[in-house]
Amino acid sequence: MDFSGYPFPENSPEPGACIRIERPEAGLAVLVLDPPHRSLAVLDAPLMRDLAAAIEELEGDSSLQGVVITGRSPVKFAAGADIDAIKQLTDIPTIEQMVLAAHALLFRIAALKPRTIAAVGGPVPGGAYELSLSCDRILVSDDPKTRIGLPETQLGILPGWGGCHRLPRRVGVPTALDAILTGRLYPARTAWKRGMVDRVVPPEYLLRVACDAAMGRIRVTQRKRGLKGILVDRNPMVANFIADQARKAVMKKTRGRYPAPLRALELAAAGPRTSLRDGARKEAVAIAELASGPICKALVGIFQGSELAKKTGKLADGSFPPKVTKAAVIGGGTMGAGIASSLADKGVATRLTDLDPAVLDTALAAHRADLAKKLKRRRLRPHLAAQAVDHLDTTPDSATLRGSDILIEAVAEVLEVKQSVFGSLAKIVRPDCILATNTSSLSVTEIAKTIPHPERVVGMHFFNPVKRMPLVEVVRGEQTSDEVVTATCALALRLGKTPVVTADVAGFLVNRLLCPYLDEAQRLFLRGISPVRLDSLMLNFGMPMGPFALLDEVGLDIAAHAGASLHAAYGARMTPAEGLMDQMGPKRLGKKTGRGFYDHSRKRKGKKPPLCEDIRSFQSGNSAKSLCDRDLVARMVLSMANEAVRCLEEQVVANAAMLDLATVFGTGFAPFRGGVLAWLDAIGADEAVRRLKAIADSPEMKDRPGAKEKFAAAPLLREMAESGTKFRS
Ligand code: NAI
Repeated sequence: MDFSGYPFPENSPEPGACIRIERPEAGLAVLVLDPPHRSLAVLDAPLMRDLAAAIEELEGDSSLQGVVITGRSPVKFAAGADIDAIKQLTDIPTIEQMVLAAHALLFRIAALKPRTIAAVGGPVPGGAYELSLSCDRILVSDDPKTRIGLPETQLGILPGWGGCHRLPRRVGVPTALDAILTGRLYPARTAWKRGMVDRVVPPEYLLRVACDAAMGRIRVTQRKRGLKGILVDRNPMVANFIADQARKAVMKKTRGRYPAPLRALELAAAGPRTSLRDGARKEAVAIAELASGPICKALVGIFQGSELAKKTGKLADGSFPPKVTKAAVIGGGTMGAGIASSLADKGVATRLTDLDPAVLDTALAAHRADLAKKLKRRRLRPHLAAQAVDHLDTTPDSATLRGSDILIEAVAEVLEVKQSVFGSLAKIVRPDCILATNTSSLSVTEIAKTIPHPERVVGMHFFNPVKRMPLVEVVRGEQTSDEVVTATCALALRLGKTPVVTADVAGFLVNRLLCPYLDEAQRLFLRGISPVRLDSLMLNFGMPMGPFALLDEVGLDIAAHAGASLHAAYGARMTPAEGLMDQMGPKRLGKKTGRGFYDHSRKRKGKKPPLCEDIRSFQSGNSAKSLCDRDLVARMVLSMANEAVRCLEEQVVANAAMLDLATVFGTGFAPFRGGVLAWLDAIGADEAVRRLKAIADSPEMKDRPGAKEKFAAAPLLREMAESGTKFRS
């Protein structure tokens, strides 16, 4: 078997080291995926090489009745294909050959004479599940760590080791499409209910039951699709109808920007009617095209950034910081209520306090309503919902916060108020209790100045709405200790968020990038361009919402306040567009007042709110009307990108990967572009410098305060342009 196309990792072990063959009894072989160079097996070149050798050995053993393929432990099967290799590969024929080599191996497993049982658990994504699908039966550990599915489309590729063909055969086209297009990883019991696995077994019995099943001592049946299989999966008309519906849903969600789900649904919908050999060839061709393209590289880059972010929750020696078990949240308004509810959801005993008792009642009611909704949708088991209710407690008495491991404040955005809250609570709590501030515009270092043990003061900047936004900026003040930063990142990870550590600079990272972008959009509006056109251009660019929809969401007052504080911190280049908020008045602040750029009071269900009828009266000229779509987009995006390069230069974040990750998760920057620096790489630093210069030199900029500074290419960008290097190598 030829795995020569696969890149071997640097620390590859000797041949034979990755797979152990155990013979617990006559007629039975247990293949254990146990590569010494990985804490969790990855189906990388050395493992595939050794798996092929092991299968060859079994093929030659006529005494075998059963084979079990399993992992190092019942909750450690394999992490799937080698993602780093996917990032490196660009040559289409090489990728095709690699995929076909993997298929050839899986066909040999499927053709083994003895009964084959995959005994899996823990993470079983992508290639790891496809390896299981080539076995006769799949047994899975009944453990909360088990997550099984085909997430490939999230990485810009498709399930290419048989997943597009074996899964629809097993569970039917509709269920397979749902799994493949959402890329969801299912818990053990859900996977069983969907027919994706054949039996759920307590982890301690997994291997024993698998051996019994392999030896025929117990019977494990696979759910048959029966008549449905013939009527739905094998009927081209029905399959095409299902594929059409799925295609429409994908197009609506992605605007056709992501080719992988479209290719995957084409293959999977025809899966049951295609021979596995033909399917393998089709998967190989599709994977090679997708994996060699820029969208896959961008999405893999984001995935790798997320993996890097996970490491921020570990101390330098690889150990974990002390686990937060008790938390207190001060201030139960928009942010505090969401933060407290998220903590309780994840099993942290949380106390929420506020000066206003009515706010506490509202927060508690919202927490319960959220849990009830999840219960109704079967997203949560009843006992976990009950626990989450118990985990949130409200109190007006801050003396009861004594035993907390962390205090998170989300009170008014006023330095003295935050200092006084931390100052008085610091006297009550332990000296090692973390004091985290959710400030979005104040300096963490300033807040810490009056607090005893300032090394425990850290920024924990959540985004609104807390439950939906995936990013948390963990802000390191001048005195914040490494342990406190790590513990805060670990807590963010536990909440299911992605932490990005930032320096304590005005606006931190995300708001510092969003402000110049939103400001540019407002200036283009003032100079005659309709918000609808600008929003639609940015949606087409790949943002989840346009700048004006976002401004209405955030509130014009909040945006103006943020703009003013960044102007004070960074000077001319952050000069805000003048007077828009004053002109529009206090009753036109966006969604919260019913009207902003859009008229939210006239919104109809399922439709976007219409533009306010009088919006043109706020425009003060039409000098931007001569700009084409490309120029309009360039102005807005380069405003953000140029500032991003400055942030990288100033080491506001650790590296380009983290910066890009924060732009995707915090600003919604088009994921298929891989983040703002990856976008700069794609257009080229030299081209970006040229476009910035063209903007700066345009007649319109002549008298605009701060324009020269804003559009002067950041020094690092000029350096990259001269040397021809990329931000993301
Ligand atoms: P909010 O006005 O909705 O809630 C603040 C709450 O704090 C109020 O219920 C108030 O009664 C309470 N409070 C004030 N002083 C208090 C004290 N001394 N002790 C206990 N409770 C006190 O404000 P929101 O929007 O939740 O913002 C809170 C913080 O989060 C601010 O620092 C804000 O900058 C930051 N933030 C806000 C975001 C947003 O979109 N709203 C996004 C990210 C951060």
